[in-house]
Amino acid sequence: MNTIHEFIKKLPKCELHLHIEGSLEPDLMLKLAKRNDVELKYKSIEEIQQAYQFDNLQSFLDIYYEGAGVLQKEEDFYELTMAYLERAVADNVKHTEIFFDPQTHTDRGIPFDVVVSGIHKALQDGKEMGISSKLIMCFLRHLSEDAAFETLNQALTHKDKICAVGLDSSEVGHPPSKFERVFTKALEEGFLTVAHAGEEGDPSYIWEALDLLKVSRIDHGVRCLEDEVLVARLKQEQVHLTVCPLSNIKLRVFDQMKDHKLKRLWDAGLSAGINSDDPAYFGGYMNQNFLATQEGLALSKEDLRKTSLDAFNASFLSESEKRFWCDKVVSFE
Ligand code: HPA
Ligand code: ZN
Repeated sequence: MNTIHEFIKKLPKCELHLHIEGSLEPDLMLKLAKRNDVELKYKSIEEIQQAYQFDNLQSFLDIYYEGAGVLQKEEDFYELTMAYLERAVADNVKHTEIFFDPQTHTDRGIPFDVVVSGIHKALQDGKEMGISSKLIMCFLRHLSEDAAFETLNQALTHKDKICAVGLDSSEVGHPPSKFERVFTKALEEGFLTVAHAGEEGDPSYIWEALDLLKVSRIDHGVRCLEDEVLVARLKQEQVHLTVCPLSNIKLRVFDQMKDHKLKRLWDAGLSAGINSDDPAYFGGYMNQNFLATQEGLALSKEDLRKTSLDAFNASFLSESEKRFWCDKVVSFE
């Protein structure tokens, strides 16, 4: 008989909320800093780990953007992505949809094409390791609409590699409406859309993401529970929420895992998955997120199957690929 831990480890999983820059582990950060001659504030893995004490989203973002400064060359982006894929494969993640933040790099003079090529080559090689993937380009919402338009223009020659656009960084004060025109153009150009909303922002951010940005999924979305009418809409349209439990604890969205509202989202009839967000910063990849959530919320095998099914169904895979993986999950013991 499988223990619940064995069940979690082997369950086929789909990750829909992973920032590739957030998978930069301290050892790779130090190695790339040395290789690229970048001055880092930290001199050891311990010093880096000590800096990872966050009070909220912004306190994390300040450190996250600084860490990303060691990424300079195509091979750095390749190595970063390959390291994530190896961990994902070890966690039985069968499909992953990865965010990247081009502006974090282009603003430092790194060409857009260098970033996309490095990530894309690793994703191609990932297929041979048994993991399929899609790439989602995020706009940094603390930057201007003009800057987002410029970034979208750079993506137009990479439509074969980028399937969707998203919105991340500092949420409060930067509502989705700021990017309505950019997302309208992205949709016209054939990109799908997603957006971070309702992590720290109130439910109005989720309404705007749905109505103005026409998103296929909401990233985080946990604050939807404060608005009954919104919950009814999300249920009616089965808009998937890409929930990130360990991230929510580290960034103090909830105090402890037992207070996390994932089960309440499911009880309300919503589609919601478990994801790792920025695993190098928040203490774990997919299996660690599943294990911590199972323990904190006493999740059953049925709950765990549901979360995996919700994620595969909400992915940008084809209908036949979704069916293939959902059949595997349903029959998984
Ligand atoms: N929220 C907003 N921006 C981010 C996140 C997040 O969880 N991770 C990386 N950038
Ligand atoms: Zn995120």
